[in-house]
Amino acid sequence: MTEHSSRIKFGSKFGIVAAAAGSAVGLGNIWKFPYEAGQNGGGAFLLIYILCVLLFGLPIMVSELVIGRRAHANVSGAFRQLSGTNHWAMVGLLGVITAFLILGFYFVVAGWSLEYVYQAVANAFERKTPMQLSQAFSDFSTDTFRPLFWTTIFICCTAFVLLAGVKKGIERTSKILMPFLIFILILLCVRSVTMPNGNEGLKFFFAPDFSKITPTVILSALGQAFFSLSLGMGCMITYGSYIRKDNNLTKTALHVTSVDTLIAILAGTAIFPAVFSLGINPAQGPKLVFVTLPSVFSHMPGGYICAILFFLLLAIAALTSTISLQEVITAYVSEEFHWQRKKVIVVSSLVLIVLSSLCSLSLGIGSHYTIGGKTLFDFFDFTTSKFLMPLGGFLISIFIGWFYKADEVKDELGNHGKLPVKLFSVYIFLMRFFVPLAILLIFLNELGTFS
Ligand code: PHE
Repeated sequence: MTEHSSRIKFGSKFGIVAAAAGSAVGLGNIWKFPYEAGQNGGGAFLLIYILCVLLFGLPIMVSELVIGRRAHANVSGAFRQLSGTNHWAMVGLLGVITAFLILGFYFVVAGWSLEYVYQAVANAFERKTPMQLSQAFSDFSTDTFRPLFWTTIFICCTAFVLLAGVKKGIERTSKILMPFLIFILILLCVRSVTMPNGNEGLKFFFAPDFSKITPTVILSALGQAFFSLSLGMGCMITYGSYIRKDNNLTKTALHVTSVDTLIAILAGTAIFPAVFSLGINPAQGPKLVFVTLPSVFSHMPGGYICAILFFLLLAIAALTSTISLQEVITAYVSEEFHWQRKKVIVVSSLVLIVLSSLCSLSLGIGSHYTIGGKTLFDFFDFTTSKFLMPLGGFLISIFIGWFYKADEVKDELGNHGKLPVKLFSVYIFLMRFFVPLAILLIFLNELGTFS
């Protein structure tokens, strides 16, 4: 099939892991994970989160990579090809819509990280109390023009890398980033843990208080696992379609999941001891990281350089994620509607400038326009993680567990008999029964059916 052989492929083994991990590691790990953990009981959240990663995240990531590589097509085309029907292609369309909604608020937060690079360079955190930092963040994020400026810059950077092509752009950016990010997070952990009263924070984050486990905590942890691992909306399907035939998909999924989880835990370890040491409220939501880490930097030898490096790395980590999100849209429109990639990237970027501007404005002058009591920003954040991505995961589990032949899945995982496929029955059991039933129960429970 000519269309297939002409598709771009990722290169080296490390390149594949780096690109997929680049998608997974981003604001989800460093911005969202700590504030979700802070709002949902700390250790209890961490425990449920890890369970969700193992029981939902890992098998769904394997499935998405299988679907993508088997079909060698965009998210919608992949479902159509493997199922032979158009109904399943709708799941792909759902993924594309989800990608737009996520990007709507993700670009805004990515823009904030650029502002913080600028502030770090201007030494704006020095000698500020957490209270002043919090006020400064609120002033900035509710401002009308400044966040829009950074968001637009970020959207242009993403478009630029996408225009440079999948392999060159994504692989190269991700490869350099990851080790650096881990290194600086470890430095931050060391400083944070050694702050006075830091062990209170460690206790909060690592010692689960089982009484805090509620349906809301479970749904939040589930949504966070999907969000952080880039699952349930076709991102790993799209990336899977660029993976070469000789790659061990199970190993790739294991590596990506481990790196992603490690970075989330490092972020939590860097943040909570400082939160408790400085008397910051751990449950204050999206501003948590932007208030806490600048305080840590201002208490740290070499803090000036570290702050610049950190926010720069955060921006790059966000960039490798926005690239993967917009690639879902790009591959879909260019393959399904036969548009040139260049045209798709330009048009979708323009749409996204409008969407993220609305999200950003919804925190300031537009805050009185709400949907179900939520600002547009919160609405996009909430519906994607807590509804659309788990729904996508549910549909993928039904597809792999009940529609697609298990033999074909095994064949793809084993590279056509070249690799042993370990624990296949456990994987199929999870996909067939556990994942769909558990997601269904969590949804029903949230709707109040059981209360
Ligand atoms: N996983 C990314 C992060 O943690 C966000 C993302 C979600 C990327 C969905 C791609 C698809 O920041």
